[in-house]
Amino acid sequence: MQERVIVGIDVGTTKICVLVGELDRDGKMNIVGVGTCPSQGLRRGVVVNIEETVTSIAAALDRAERLSGKKITTAYVGIAGSHIASENSKGFVAISPSHRDIVQNDISRAIEVARAIAIPANREVIHVIPRGYVVDGQEGIKNPIGMSGFRLEVETHIITGAVSSIHNLIKCVQKARVEIEDLVLEPLASSEAVLADGETDLGVALVDIGGGSTDIAVFSDGAIWQTVVLPIGGNLITSDIAIGLRLPFGVAEELKLTYGHCDPSAISDDDMIDLAQFMPNCDDLVPRKLLAEIIQARVEELFEMVHEEIRKSGYDGLLPAGLVLTGGSAELPGIQGLAGQILDLPTRIGSPLGLHGLADSISRPAYATAVGLLQWALTHTSFLIDEDEPEDNGLMSFASRFGRWLRAFLP
Ligand SMILES: Nc1ncnc2c1ncn2[C@@H]1O[C@H](COP(=O)(O)OP(=O)(O)OP(=O)(O)O)[C@@H](O)[C@H]1O
Ligand SMILES: [Mg+2]
Repeated sequence: MQERVIVGIDVGTTKICVLVGELDRDGKMNIVGVGTCPSQGLRRGVVVNIEETVTSIAAALDRAERLSGKKITTAYVGIAGSHIASENSKGFVAISPSHRDIVQNDISRAIEVARAIAIPANREVIHVIPRGYVVDGQEGIKNPIGMSGFRLEVETHIITGAVSSIHNLIKCVQKARVEIEDLVLEPLASSEAVLADGETDLGVALVDIGGGSTDIAVFSDGAIWQTVVLPIGGNLITSDIAIGLRLPFGVAEELKLTYGHCDPSAISDDDMIDLAQFMPNCDDLVPRKLLAEIIQARVEELFEMVHEEIRKSGYDGLLPAGLVLTGGSAELPGIQGLAGQILDLPTRIGSPLGLHGLADSISRPAYATAVGLLQWALTHTSFLIDEDEPEDNGLMSFASRFGRWLRAFLP
């Protein structure tokens, strides 16, 4: 066993964040490098300009390399965007009469069957996540290896994305001279960083409100049930402010970050914002209550959409652990109360947990995805496990999956 360096790259709509984690001998992850850079070239989580995206990724990589003193060659990369779709699928297989005890190969065969859903040619599978197993009708089994049975059934959550969007992201990372170890759906990464085991067991919805999109992941019985990406995020709140107050986007963004609030009733009528601090030649005053009204309207609409998605997932009223809000826009004051009120659920703000090393700068909701990428790597890859120990995390082998991608994507 030796120390391992793991790198996560969150390619967000507003920022690129590269984290370098070093896994010590006890399996503890120390953050030894952070590189962030404002992002160019993405819209709503999807690459729309290759050159700009590559330049942004390269700048963030450069910063992380300087800080950590490590050369970055491979990374776990987050993927999102409204091209993402998900569905639950079951697969079952007979257990060979010669052994009757379930082995890893039986699980892999069952997952292969579940995976064989009809996927259009322009879509590609990103994750096949086993939610649980049924052995001879006995439900709720998390790890069936070693159990006896005749029939093994797996319930999986399958996440797919548009081939072109996946391909463009892979291309950008490779052009920045980094090989991808795994692509991870961003809300799944974020949930690794901010959710507690007890919450996913009870039933919880993670809502990651970024700049370009809002990602929802609904968990129950400790496993993912539904993932949705909504094409609306903090940038739209800023646009509303820019339009409503007739200000340039950059000034509207500053105004939101400094004085934004989701609850106008918490702001007094005579609280005025002097615009001169953002625009030296301007002596206008803006009522802070008006700013909060603009923000509240958009955030309310956003949570109505989130509520609708949770209703569609069939889990309305079935999420005792409630909502966990993360992503940069979760830092808006008053957002917790507004979400709780609209969805009628207990709500909290999720910041990345369990950080060591350079934790101060990244223990905020905006870094949930980046931190979660490292944790995903830790949970789903056997870094500290002996090579010949069987892989029992039930995930489809990445080597086989990514090998297939590479063959599909590389010239
Ligand atoms: N303190 C704050 N108050 C209000 N909004 C904030 C605050 N901090 C960040 N934001 C908003 O959060 C958004 C960026 O969030 P985040 O960094 O999670 O996005 P991203 O990962 O780059 O984008 P996406 O996930 O949508 O691709 C921006 O719209 C920004 O204005
Ligand atoms: Mg994000």
